[in-house]
Amino acid sequence: MLRNFKQIQQPRTFIRGLATAADAASIPNRVHGGLKDQDRIFQNVYGTYGHDLKSAQKMGDWYKTKEIILKGDKWIIDEMKKSGLRGRGGAGFPSGLKWSFMNPPGWEKNPGPRYLVVNADEGEPGTCKDREIIRKDPHKLVEGCLLAGRAMNATAAYIYIRGEFYNETVVLQNAINEAYKAGLIGKNACGSGYDFDVYIHRGMGAYICGEETALIESIEGKAGKPRLKPPFPAGVGLFGRPTTVANVESVSVAPTILRRGGDWFASFGRERNAGTKLFCISGHVNEPCTVEEEMSIPLKELLEKHCGGIKGGWDNLLGVIPGGSSVPIMPKETCDNVLMDYDALRDVGSGLGTAAVIVLNKQTDIIRAIQRFSHFYKHESCGQCTPCREGTTWLQRMMDRFYTGQATEREIDMIFELTKEIEGHTICALGDAAAWPVQGLIKSFRPVMVDRIKEFQAKHGGESVEYGGWVDGGKIKDGVVVDNPLPSGHH
Ligand SMILES: Cc1cc2nc3c(=O)[nH]c(=O)nc-3n(C[C@H](O)[C@H](O)[C@H](O)COP(=O)(O)O)c2cc1C
Ligand code: SF4
Repeated sequence: MLRNFKQIQQPRTFIRGLATAADAASIPNRVHGGLKDQDRIFQNVYGTYGHDLKSAQKMGDWYKTKEIILKGDKWIIDEMKKSGLRGRGGAGFPSGLKWSFMNPPGWEKNPGPRYLVVNADEGEPGTCKDREIIRKDPHKLVEGCLLAGRAMNATAAYIYIRGEFYNETVVLQNAINEAYKAGLIGKNACGSGYDFDVYIHRGMGAYICGEETALIESIEGKAGKPRLKPPFPAGVGLFGRPTTVANVESVSVAPTILRRGGDWFASFGRERNAGTKLFCISGHVNEPCTVEEEMSIPLKELLEKHCGGIKGGWDNLLGVIPGGSSVPIMPKETCDNVLMDYDALRDVGSGLGTAAVIVLNKQTDIIRAIQRFSHFYKHESCGQCTPCREGTTWLQRMMDRFYTGQATEREIDMIFELTKEIEGHTICALGDAAAWPVQGLIKSFRPVMVDRIKEFQAKHGGESVEYGGWVDGGKIKDGVVVDNPLPSGHH
């Protein structure tokens, strides 16, 4: 339960200096994890209380919101910067800095609507945290819209929610209606003199609409195809007006940060990786869950403490995909000691992404798992850029062959090169997202791919396979491939 406002504003005795991540890592006694209940922002993540306004207020939501609004945009932005919050939508860009781009010198000379767009598309496979916020703690998001909106001098928020989240939309709309009725949002929000509206826009289930500019196009009624940047949304965004797109979790943590202070939030996690974080853990653990923990908690502790450990025990772990399907898999040796934060996971060649932790034990066919991802990205590519449109199709077809083993060893290097041709050469990051899982597979599990190729040959009487999956006797007759069956449709 939140303590009263005066108490929570007390300066903490534990003050962090200007250490670097390396310094923080080298403090021998600083162990992360073990977040206490009173430090959990999302106190209702398991639905213990109601999601109505009264229950939310009992948990501390909407407390002194007016006073925070009256402190003004600069104060809010400074506090968010101090908190060290990095965007929870995947890219991890510092939120305070990003929100400040809405207020360049002279922004007032451009009168008219300005928007906060909340990204509730939650399409990244494995990710199921924003949905928990919306259906159990919706007032954190609605209050967050108002305060993040105030920081950006926005006039309204659009919450873009994936169409499949029907029940969540109903809960969220109820929370918005309650907030309007209580005078917390709308004209003269909270009696502060500030006018602010909140709208919901339902998507239609395309993964690409989670990309911020595709999302903006989609709200405008167009096909969800990402825009080229620049111009960035803070300059030209929704309906041509200054806009910032922010993730549900980034926005929902803002009210608590502003009540308890940026320093409080920054006291969790290593330097540059501050805060508490919702981790959603799925796959081969005994108890999959979504849990709020301190950033920089060791992965092993996260899985053993909150998920009842790996099915078959820790030694039965094959690998972990720590940030949603887009980030490379880490083999067990890496999982033994890695910390769950942006820098630690980047340093081991993976990423925190959305903190959707996908656990795979040794009973997993790892080639099959990554092949399934390749099908997903091929299906979700919007088709605007050639490296992504053609590359994801190519990746999918090659991964189909690696799954059955109908390939040559040298094609492993070829598919790796193909991923490098896609990565960084596209309008949006979907191309990278398609490339990284395949790169992770090759980096950590190449011997498994080689064995599969050898198994295929052994099963087919030692028959050799040529590039493209050609087998002995395969030919083209009248423009059609004959006697050369290729695997397909393993999705
Ligand atoms: C293909 C693709 C899908 C994305 N899907 C989501 C999503 O479902 N939810 C989300 O918050 N961000 C998603 N993002 C990231 C957004 O573009 C954007 O960076 C994010 O919403 C910004 O919020 P933040 O600064 O609070 O992290 C996606 C990005 C890409 C390239
Ligand atoms: S990278 Fe893929 S999804 Fe993104 S704009 Fe290009 S074609 Fe579309």
